[in-house]
Amino acid sequence: MESLRDIGYDLSAAVADLVDNSLDADATSVEIDLVHDREGGWVRIADDGCGMTEGALDEAMRYGSSRSYGDSDLGHFGLGLKTASLSQARRLTVATRSTLRGPVRIRRWDLDLVAEIDDWQLERLTPARAPAHLVEPLRDRTGTVVLWERLDRLHTSRRHDGEAAANRLATAAREITDHLSMVFHRFLDGEAHSEPLELFVNGDRVRAWDPFARGERHTQILTEQRLALEHHGEEHTVVVRPHILPAQQLFSSAEAHDRAGGPNRWNRQQGLYIYRRDRLIQSGGWNRLRTLDEHAKLARIALDIPSGPDSAFRTNVAKMTVGLPETLRPALRALVAGVVARAQSSYRHRLRALPAPETREAPTGRTVTIGDQWPQISEVLEQNLADQPELLDRILVALANVRPAESSPPAAARG
Ligand SMILES: Nc1ncnc2c1ncn2[C@@H]1O[C@H](COP(=O)(O)OP(=O)(O)OP(=O)(O)O)[C@@H](O)[C@H]1O
Ligand SMILES: [Mg+2]
Repeated sequence: MESLRDIGYDLSAAVADLVDNSLDADATSVEIDLVHDREGGWVRIADDGCGMTEGALDEAMRYGSSRSYGDSDLGHFGLGLKTASLSQARRLTVATRSTLRGPVRIRRWDLDLVAEIDDWQLERLTPARAPAHLVEPLRDRTGTVVLWERLDRLHTSRRHDGEAAANRLATAAREITDHLSMVFHRFLDGEAHSEPLELFVNGDRVRAWDPFARGERHTQILTEQRLALEHHGEEHTVVVRPHILPAQQLFSSAEAHDRAGGPNRWNRQQGLYIYRRDRLIQSGGWNRLRTLDEHAKLARIALDIPSGPDSAFRTNVAKMTVGLPETLRPALRALVAGVVARAQSSYRHRLRALPAPETREAPTGRTVTIGDQWPQISEVLEQNLADQPELLDRILVALANVRPAESSPPAAARG
């Protein structure tokens, strides 16, 4: 069990995996709370979904629990609840209620107890013996509450009762908010095929973060492309929607530009946004189709995995990365190259559109503005250096920074 703790989750991804479960249980509201206390604190994920019967709860606590999945289900492996939780906490307690008349059922995995008695013993608790904050959300509704305690991944140092530990929880809450607003943006703004979802972190409503800044006037939404994918002898269609975000000064405000940068900031948010059943699995990166580069950072491309050839796209258990089917790569590489070329030209346009900061009084008393002169030069360079984008950009940036004094004619010539 200890070895299953290290399969790539971070705290935000682990929480997102539990929100998947809540969505599969038809929850419309999920509350995430992080509370600090003398033992280091706890994380609680409470939903208003359909809950589980006692038998389903026992099954759910098993590794590789089995159930059949529907077409829109986010669950996949039968692992998430256990692996995501125990990657972050040494104690996982689940309380659930499937009917308003029925009781709340509780089960617990405690890694310290398992180690102590050297046996996989799933504990049963009664609501009376459980902490109040575990059962309280289920007082008058069905749903499921997952509680993580002994947060050893968050508190790696030995002290977890002081101010530093409290700050770590506060920082974690912000990171979780950012991550959820991205991963579930289609659910939060009603774009997904299911009912809109309400998410709260420490009582604050999580707002959708649109990776494509579609609310910005200068965002370019390029024509949707449909790529053919053959899988197990059947033809499928992969829908790809390329976007080119506006260059910095074309954003409506500095804050809007900053927000569009996203949790991982501009450079690392370029690339593919891969969705499975409307849930964002991969947010940026080019899957070896090309490398990240400063000049392509305005390109963001949405790709939806169709539900038929699901298995052709290899998703890891932590649902953070996707492997593209080999047969899709050539068409996708060509498409990406075209989009990136356009994004690069938008990026260079940014340089051209820069107000000339070098403006200052020339010795003659006349105002010299280099920015007025170099757009023509840049056209010539762009035509001749199209295949060497990095060199081209170095020259353009250098030109943009030329000082008037350096370019003014020598004193003798001025006479
Ligand atoms: N919040 C919840 N509400 C109702 N049922 C749940 C909830 N969380 C988990 N379950 C049940 O427990 C089972 C196991 O969950 P778990 O996350 O471990 O696996 P999964 O969702 O089936 O697959 P994956 O490994 O892809 O997450 C689920 O299939 C579901 O039946
Ligand atoms: Mg799951």
